[in-house]
Amino acid sequence: MFTIITGAQFGDEGKGKIVDMMASQYDIVARFQGGDNAGHTVVAEGKTYKLHLIPSGVLFDARLLIGPGTVMNPKILMEEIAMLAENGTTVKPDKLGIDAKTSIIMPYHIALDSLRESKRAVKIGTTNRGIGFAYIDKVGRDEIQMADIADRNRFLKRLEEIAPQKEAAIRDLGGDLSIARSGIEEYIEIGKKLKPYITDVSREINLALKEGKKVLAEGAQGSHLDIIHGTQKFVTSSSTVAGSACSALGVGPTKVDKVIGVVKAYITRVGEGPLPTEQKNAVGEHLRGKGGEFGTTTGRPRRCGWFDLPLARKSIDLNGYTGMALTKLDVLTGLDPVKVCTGYELDGKIIDYPPELSDELARCKPVYTELPGWDEDISSRENLRELPENAKEYIGLLEQLMGVGIEYISVGPGRQQTFTN
Ligand code: IMP
Repeated sequence: MFTIITGAQFGDEGKGKIVDMMASQYDIVARFQGGDNAGHTVVAEGKTYKLHLIPSGVLFDARLLIGPGTVMNPKILMEEIAMLAENGTTVKPDKLGIDAKTSIIMPYHIALDSLRESKRAVKIGTTNRGIGFAYIDKVGRDEIQMADIADRNRFLKRLEEIAPQKEAAIRDLGGDLSIARSGIEEYIEIGKKLKPYITDVSREINLALKEGKKVLAEGAQGSHLDIIHGTQKFVTSSSTVAGSACSALGVGPTKVDKVIGVVKAYITRVGEGPLPTEQKNAVGEHLRGKGGEFGTTTGRPRRCGWFDLPLARKSIDLNGYTGMALTKLDVLTGLDPVKVCTGYELDGKIIDYPPELSDELARCKPVYTELPGWDEDISSRENLRELPENAKEYIGLLEQLMGVGIEYISVGPGRQQTFTN
């Protein structure tokens, strides 16, 4: 069985928690895109784990894979392995595999990311992790791969070829040239440690599927941050939608059984770009405060707004979801009324689907349906029946309007606070 799980909004939907919950039933959990721009928060047995690279299923027995479509900062990976070891979870090569072709984020990628962002007249608000520049090198065929850093001579030869053009790029942006050749010895040391983890991810997954095993592909970021279909230019540099799991992990689309989309009961966005239902008021404050809406990676406050159905409709098309997971329903407690954006007004017309261009989306005025709110604390409710009538009505409306079943509902950060619908 091959299941793909992706974020249906702008990232930070709570995928980590849903993956963590599903992981006990899977043999393999694989990351297929992005890098340490992602932040997955998993709360288990009273401990909070903030992960950026290691797949969220780490606290279960599943084998974890980092696929060749990701961009990986090996220093961050080593920090996560050390943090998990301190908390009693050892991540050895039998637990984690890294594809030989995984792109490595070099110090110059991070420097170029921040230099370029500082020069942009209209900022993107990147996470400053070098993601875009690592992907530029992948597409430009100038990347350093996992297999390179694991082999000193191969790495040095490759750097010799690449460093001069990095120096030129850094010079152009007014940065410090020495960054182009910095961190080499440290990367070689890390490369030695990570060498035993190297694997062929596509081969492993295909063999596992042939043996009848269960594989879960874990997306990072969200559908509207997709490099092709998202709200350009305010997007990340990878393809975040479900189809990308197939191409990036090297698994044919005929193998996919389920595609789960994760949506928050409201919407958030970090960084720049259109967010039609954004609430720069007490409602926004409520969502940010109660929802702890601060970036896992950057600590930036997230922009918050009401649930945006047109954006959800588009994600459903982009991903072909077979089911949804609705997270953070408890955060809406205390708001009255609760609003759902069912369409937009754009240039005097009412539309129910996002316009294709970001600047048009930025001009959209939300059209809302209002529902009565609820005051009861729902964070310890264990099934749909126990929820207040108004919360049930809210879930029912979203399900009906999305036209895809809500399979999981989460009412708090802990593992116990999620139930199946
Ligand atoms: P980058 O991925 O660092 O290049 O940033 C590009 C855009 O994607 C920025 O608006 C970031 O805030 C956003 N972004 C990247 N990763 C995440 C994530 O994991 N959650 C939410 N937003 C993200």
